[in-house]
Amino acid sequence: MLQAILPPEMSTGMAAMDELHKDFFEALIGLSSTSAKEFEARYGAFVSKAEHVFSTEEQWMEEIDFPIIKSHREQHARVLSALHHVHSCVMNGDLVTGREVVEKLLPQWFVFHVSTMDVALAAAMQMGDINVMRPALAPLVSYADMISISSNIMSLDNVSMVQGQA
Ligand SMILES: [Fe+2]
Repeated sequence: MLQAILPPEMSTGMAAMDELHKDFFEALIGLSSTSAKEFEARYGAFVSKAEHVFSTEEQWMEEIDFPIIKSHREQHARVLSALHHVHSCVMNGDLVTGREVVEKLLPQWFVFHVSTMDVALAAAMQMGDINVMRPALAPLVSYADMISISSNIMSLDNVSMVQGQA
């Protein structure tokens, strides 16, 4: 069972973004605790929620002409692709894969993504100067490492590994 409350390190310092993430995380918790009978229907609703969260962030990035919008958007697209792929598994009765993604892989990806990509976006939005983005990231992780690690956390390879275990 996932935690019902976002850990403190999940805060980006931007209320609107934190609220968006809280909504996402609560939907994830709701899905993880649902019965097998309801899982398929609620999985679809959760994917719609994820699409809303990611598109909202991408709208914010466009508004400030965020310089790494491409890589951030790519991370969102990669996860959405995996979620849609898993949706087809769930619709075919493979709830083991669905629950593995919902209860383990996606929370791991989410925590990492928020503490790197989303924190950088929040810093740029709050300070009104996109040039402060890199200093804000420096204590956390290098940009190259951030892209590399994030790409490995939630890839279709990971989903395939889960399917291999099912
Ligand atoms: Fe994001």
